[in-house]
Order: sequence, then C-alpha cells, then structure tokens
Amino acid sequence: MQKFIITGGRKLRGELALQGSKNSALPIMAASLLCGEEVVLKSCPRLTDVYAASRILNCTGCKCSFSGSTAVIDPRDVSRTDIPETLMHEMRSSIIFMGAVLGRTGECTVSIPGGCELGPRPIDMHLAALRKMGADIREEHGRIICSGKAHGTKISLTFPSVGATENIILFAVNADGETVINNAAREPEICDLCGFLRKCGADIKGDGGSSIIINGVPKLHGCEYNIMPDRIAGATYLSMTAAAGGEIILTNSCITEMEPFLSVLEQTGCSIMTCGDRIYLRSGSRLKAVKERIRTMPHPGFPTDAQAVLMAALAAAEGTSVFEENIFDCRYRHVDALVKMGADIQAVGKIAVVKGVNRLHGADVAATDLRGGAAMVVAALAADGTSSVSGIHHIDRGYEKMEDAVRLLGGDMRRS
Ligand code: UD1
Repeated sequence: MQKFIITGGRKLRGELALQGSKNSALPIMAASLLCGEEVVLKSCPRLTDVYAASRILNCTGCKCSFSGSTAVIDPRDVSRTDIPETLMHEMRSSIIFMGAVLGRTGECTVSIPGGCELGPRPIDMHLAALRKMGADIREEHGRIICSGKAHGTKISLTFPSVGATENIILFAVNADGETVINNAAREPEICDLCGFLRKCGADIKGDGGSSIIINGVPKLHGCEYNIMPDRIAGATYLSMTAAAGGEIILTNSCITEMEPFLSVLEQTGCSIMTCGDRIYLRSGSRLKAVKERIRTMPHPGFPTDAQAVLMAALAAAEGTSVFEENIFDCRYRHVDALVKMGADIQAVGKIAVVKGVNRLHGADVAATDLRGGAAMVVAALAADGTSSVSGIHHIDRGYEKMEDAVRLLGGDMRRS
C-alpha cells in the first residue's frame, strides 16, 4: 500500500493551476450518456473516481478515452442497462448513473450504494423523486430495478441533496412535459451540469436557485465543454499554504463559488486577494482562530467538503475555533489523526472544538476518507518533523497527483 511521506516546516510558494472539479466531472460524465453524439470534456481531472465513472460508461456501451485532461465520450452504442455491483461499489456517486441510464433507455438496474466512510448515505429522496416522475422501481436483494419514461411533475425535496437533484435533472431532460424541483441543491456543480446539458440542447432554467425548471426535449446532441475548476481542491491548497506559511497564486480558480470558504479563511489573518480567475494568498504569522462558529451548510453556506482541511489549518492557530457539521453524521474521522499530531480537538456529535496548539508534530497516520486524508496532509506540511499518511487511495479519488502539486510549491512530500 502506498503512503505519502511529508516533512513539514517548509513554506509554500508559487503558482498552481486548479484541476477540474471532480464533483462536476462525475455527473457530467453520466449526463453524456443522454447525448446522441460524441461529447468532449476539457479540464476533466485525472482521478480514480473519474476512471471509475468511465468504467461504468464502458459497461453500458459508451466509448470513453482520455488524452491529458480531455475526455472523449461516444454514447452512440449504449446497449447495456444493468450496472454490476462491483462497479457500483467503486464509488458512492455511481448512483447518479441511475437517472441517466433510465432517461436514455427506459430501464436501469443498479445496486444500493450502502453506507460509506461518512456514515449512512441513504438514497430515499432519489427513489421517491424518480417514482413521482413515472419510474417503476423495485428493490430485490440489494439491486434496484427501474423502468419507465419520465413525465413532468413537481418535486419538493425535504433537503437540498446534491445527488438527488442531479438524478432528477438527468431523468427529466428527456421527459414529456415540465419538471419543477423545489428546494433543489444550489451547489455550483449543479449549475455546471445544467450548463453542459443546455449546451447539448436541454431546456433548463433556475439552476443556482432553489427552484429548477426542466422542460423535456426529445433529443440531446453532443458538445465540447470545459468542466469548472475544483473549489474543494482550491480550498485544500489554500489551507495548506495558510497552515505552512508562504504565498501562492491559484490560477484557473472560481472566486464567486469559493466565496463561502474564502470569507472564513480570511478571518484567520491571511491576506487574500482575487482578480479574474486568480486567488492570491499570503500567510505570514501564526493563524488566528475563527471567532464565529463554522457551520457546514448546503451552498452558499460553508462547504462540508472543506471542513476537514480548514480544521487542520486551525489546529495550530492562536485561540479556539468551533465547527458544527450539519451535512454528514461521521465527518470527524480525521480528528484522531490530527490529535496524534499534537492537536487539541474534542469532537462530540455535530460539534468539534479546536483549541489551537503552538506546534503540531509529525506522526504516522492513516487517511479514512478523501477530505479527511487531505486534512492530514495539510497538518503534516505545517508540523515539525516527518509524517507518513497511509490509505492514500482515498486522497487519489479527488486530487490529481497531490504530491506533485505540493512539490511544485516547494513542499517536501513524496509517494512511497
Ligand atoms: C455531494 C458531493 C459531496 C458533498 C455533498 C454535500 C459529489 C460526487 N459528492 O454528495 O462531495 O460532500 O454533496 O455537499 O458531488 N441524504 C438523504 N437521502 C437522500 C440523499 C441524501 O438522507 O436520498 C442525506 C445524506 O445522507 C447527507 C445529506 O443528505 O446527510 C447530503 O447529501 P447529498 O447532498 O445528497 O450529498 P451527495 O450528493 O451524496
């Protein structure tokens, strides 16, 4: 099993171009299934989750090839509608293929994705919505067997679930009539998915707000599309620099979409300036704790995916910061590793109290999930001495060669 070996204490300096967004790429790859022609995706991140999505596409009969950060998907020969359990289990977001395969072929068999590192992740809202739209769905021995054609209807989500919103959109684009989603997720990646679908001929309005209106169209064509930058990778590299000290410029970033994170990070005393698609951050002295409670909320609230990396940066800040995790039940699994590195953090239920210590020290730790693993790297870059982070397959799910990006910035990090 591979590990990252990281020696902390070096300031990070330089310029880094952000990778394309994982959470946009996955639903857009699923959406490509709905097109009648070839799709070219630029800025497609090279990640294990993206390769898992391409294996699902291949299994349905789509051709999918990569050249650098361009993915070419040819969905003309889609023939298979059951996605094997092994592929479904490779990543939790495989569930978004349900709406796409069903929308394209009128049938689909997938597996219940089950729980994951972040706790139970039910799909009740996905199933209820698709049923209301006309799908007949049976659950047999862990398999979900769906059939039917979508018709327009009104759906009110009880929580603005990102995945459920995506599945509804994917099933609705070719529906008969108008679908309205109330209390829809407002995440920027939803807008990116809708932007892609519009470029392929879909009729969608209101994305980015709480009500999305989709008028079904008979057919979608192909297109060339640029996937948006990864705001969570951006938050991670900024947290690394804030924690280790130094100055970086992130290029190809998305400032408006990152604002909920940037406005909190700024309270740590870092200088942050933005211009066009560039974010400049300088971290000179010890970080200050964030005074207000950091509450994770659906967008435009503070993103749950950035909770762990910011917590790692605040572990050695001056003063006490308090986090409240409102999206997932088990999202403090990185805390034990940070404590092993000398942090003083108490996590009970939704709340984590982070009392800033003077210095963190290196330790051998194991990543238990994607963003928790990234948080361990943030802490290790700021710590005295050397750390090893195992379980890095979690990190590879969401970051393109993180060690190369850190080394480009002057950090001491290698894969062994
Ligand atoms: C997506 C993101 C993930 C991010 C999350 C919240 C992708 C690939 N993943 O995950 O990185 O952390 O949004 O911003 O885009 N829920 C239910 N029933 C459902 C659906 C969801 O109870 O049918 C609950 C979940 O258990 C969770 C909460 O709603 O507690 C949020 O989940 P959701 O917004 O659906 O997240 P994902 O789409 O899984």
